[in-house]
Amino acid sequence: MSKTIIVSNRLPVKVNITDGELSMQASEGGLATGLGSIYKEGNNVWIGWPGTEVAEEQQKHVTNQLKDLRLSPVFLTKEDILLFYEGFSNEILWPVFHYMSTYARYEDEYWESYRQVNEKFKTAILQVAEAGDTIWIHDYQLLLLAGLIRRELPNITIGFFQHIPFPSYELFRLIPWRSELLEGMLGADLVGFHTYDDARHFLSAATRILQLQSSSNIVTYNQRSVVVESFPMGIDDTKFNDLVLTNDEVRNNISHLEESFTNIRMILSIDRLDYSKGILQRLQAFDIFLQEHPEYKEKVSLYMIVVPSRDTVTQYKELRDEIDKLVGNINARFRTNTWSPVNYFYRSFPLEMLSALYSFAEICLVTPMRDGMNLVCKEYVASRTHNDGVLILSEMAGASKELIDAIIVNPNNVRQMSAALVEALNMSEDEQVRRMTQMRMLVSKYNITNWVKVFMERLEETKRLQLSLQAR
Ligand code: G6P
Repeated sequence: MSKTIIVSNRLPVKVNITDGELSMQASEGGLATGLGSIYKEGNNVWIGWPGTEVAEEQQKHVTNQLKDLRLSPVFLTKEDILLFYEGFSNEILWPVFHYMSTYARYEDEYWESYRQVNEKFKTAILQVAEAGDTIWIHDYQLLLLAGLIRRELPNITIGFFQHIPFPSYELFRLIPWRSELLEGMLGADLVGFHTYDDARHFLSAATRILQLQSSSNIVTYNQRSVVVESFPMGIDDTKFNDLVLTNDEVRNNISHLEESFTNIRMILSIDRLDYSKGILQRLQAFDIFLQEHPEYKEKVSLYMIVVPSRDTVTQYKELRDEIDKLVGNINARFRTNTWSPVNYFYRSFPLEMLSALYSFAEICLVTPMRDGMNLVCKEYVASRTHNDGVLILSEMAGASKELIDAIIVNPNNVRQMSAALVEALNMSEDEQVRRMTQMRMLVSKYNITNWVKVFMERLEETKRLQLSLQAR
């Protein structure tokens, strides 16, 4: 029986080892939820890094524990984490793909490690892959993998999906290893992105850098036709809707928020710590809003959650300090004895609290400088069971191509964001409901189940096309 092999840098669970004791923490991430329906079926399996360094003598034990969950670990050494994960993935690909190319550090040792770790993943896949299987590779940490597998298994079906933006050719061409990266991605039969623009940028880079022929969205590479398309990712909308309506802990959390924020209207902001998220610009916009609209003093608060992430990378550490400073500065200037303009949290929150916040906040402010998709805005929409609330969304997030009923802003324009806050605070109930109803329909129709189904069906079709072309 053929199977599907899912591959991503991170497994959907994180292994923790404290004093030799092993524990696992399931990831709440959208991908884990969406692919949950696939990787637990038949002989399917998910291959990835368990999120921590595991000593050699413990690796067998970890492997056995994960086997029951249909997960197969690829162990990364301290050096891999430093050079492949922090280095090549997050100090080269992440900044360049998010249009912050000046943050990139093009180190040969990063590249060497990136190649080696992609090889490690290849070895793990070859141990389980058989003719007739389908391999679905995810994201920028594994750009070489499809090409490496293709060399060993020329006929196997491979899908690749990139969860972050693919930049314009002018940015991508800066990377010293640009040809190798493109060749790696072109090992797939189907290459997917969140938006049409990302797909277009990839096609442009492939045809110009590798001098390949393309027709519409198909590139010819090594006598194979590779299909390049957009598949905007969705969320598990029912989960977020039902949490608000039926979960006791969420209901309880909402009651507590109602008590703590009586007569204070909440603006919500939730991100991973990342310079791509526009957190500083958002704070500047809120600062301008407070300066220019003293009538909202003691009436509006920004509730800002920043989830710690990659804090061993220099730019992330620096960003964290800058956020601390700016939040301190705003609160010092505007706070009163009974009111803090910014409620800032640097930690992760349980899902039941996030759900309560989504349900309670009148406004959600999602203003990344660049974002492949952004799922926070979709989670907010799915949690608005009364069809009210206002979403302010950056035009640089992939989601803005779908959620056109949000107030769309340019995250570099702090004055426009401040004006958007005033507009949101004054939006009539009817207008809120009109917009939110549209957005809820979209988030529900194009949910995560639909995303997985459409991608997998397209991958099958693509493979059939490949085989028929080869047979000619
Ligand atoms: C983004 C990427 C994912 C990544 C996640 C968390 O969403 O697209 O591939 O897993 O960030 O980042 P981390 O570095 O903690 O895996």
